[in-house]
Amino acid sequence: MLTVQNVLSSIRSTTGHFYKERIGTGSSCDVYKGYNKENNRVTALKILKDQSWSRELLKEVTALQRLRRHPNIVEFYGREFDSSTNLPCLVMEYCSSGSLYSYLKEVENIHGLPDAEFRILLHDITCGLAHLREHWCVHRDIKPGNILRNITQEGKSVYKISDFGASRLLSENSEEFFSLAGTEEYLHPHMYNKAFINKRSDCSFNHKVDMWSLGCTLFQAITGEMPYKPFQGARNDKSIMYEMVSSKPHGAISGCQYIAGGDIIWQRHLPEKCNMTSDLRHYLIKILVGLMDADPKYQWTFETYRSEVTQILALKCISILYCDEQKIHQIYMAPSKSLVEFKDRVAYYTDLQASYQTLYYNQHRLSVFLKGRLDVEVFPPTDLNKPICLMSSQYTETRINLRLSLGVW
Ligand SMILES: Nc1ncnc2c1ncn2[C@@H]1O[C@H](COP(=O)(O)OP(=O)(O)OP(=O)(O)O)[C@@H](O)[C@H]1O
Ligand SMILES: [Mg+2]
Repeated sequence: MLTVQNVLSSIRSTTGHFYKERIGTGSSCDVYKGYNKENNRVTALKILKDQSWSRELLKEVTALQRLRRHPNIVEFYGREFDSSTNLPCLVMEYCSSGSLYSYLKEVENIHGLPDAEFRILLHDITCGLAHLREHWCVHRDIKPGNILRNITQEGKSVYKISDFGASRLLSENSEEFFSLAGTEEYLHPHMYNKAFINKRSDCSFNHKVDMWSLGCTLFQAITGEMPYKPFQGARNDKSIMYEMVSSKPHGAISGCQYIAGGDIIWQRHLPEKCNMTSDLRHYLIKILVGLMDADPKYQWTFETYRSEVTQILALKCISILYCDEQKIHQIYMAPSKSLVEFKDRVAYYTDLQASYQTLYYNQHRLSVFLKGRLDVEVFPPTDLNKPICLMSSQYTETRINLRLSLGVW
């Protein structure tokens, strides 16, 4: 029965907060929704499961203090102690929509995020990692469970990097480190080797361990699946897992062993069943290849990654309805590209040669909106409800007029 005593007895507290509802759990801690005792501000309280994790918590506090005040890093408010157990607790910004991991588990996302949501994630995680880089911090445990999500008042997602318990602060003089940290499915091959295969290896690591884990995370966000899949599972067959990550042919982005003891089948493309359009997937393959290369000569640095992402995020998405087939396509083009290049891309998707393409927008010829210019930058805004309409010029003028008067577009 719900009595005042029952409710009160289930409420626990830290030095400065009340808490009751658990919102997450990890290997080291439980995370609760907290309420500030003085101003009732809602927070997240990361309370250690036991004292053995105190070192990680201290590391996390130091990193979060250094990284403070960035929209794509979870905000740190302070350190407290649980009133009954005296276990240390970290007070931070509450992210109401859970983690990217839980978001990818939702039914509509089991085959990955759709274009618009993925572009937000790519932007946010890249800005967050740039901030880490500027502050000489390597996270060392980038994965969907450590990327949190908030929703703005306008309903837009904001992604934030969290969980800095495994992070490493570097300096200009020492950009390398030797210790192991992370989650095995997302580990850079050199770290995987030292952790599970050749434990005596004296290999050192640098910020590129985050780049590899980011590649695995982005792959998961695009497809809903892990990139490397030994038949018996990554944790049960470490030697195949290591073979997958360390011997992946250049240009491949994933590997799967479909039968016990069978060969690894490599993929250079993203699966068709993804929620993402094929045009955006096409651009992202390059990013995944650059992030997940075991050879330090080929694996991208953060700077290369960031400049490629900037170009991808600048692409203009153009929705085009091919009337003859009643099929809509979404095509991504750099704003500097020309109408001719756009028509070539349209031809690729529709098989309708550029010379036969007639384009309409809002019941007029597209050229009316371009005002003499011929670059993608001046294309009018389109979306699935307001696309550019493509007709084959084999249609007679009469049929076009008839369609326009019927309001078919
Ligand atoms: N600020 C927050 N707001 C909302 N939920 C959070 C917050 N911080 C953590 N969580 C939830 O709690 C989970 C565990 O938190 P966190 O990753 O920090 O713990 P951990 O023990 O370090 O994890 P791991 O198992 O990765 O080592 C997250 O995956 C997330 O679902
Ligand atoms: Mg975590």
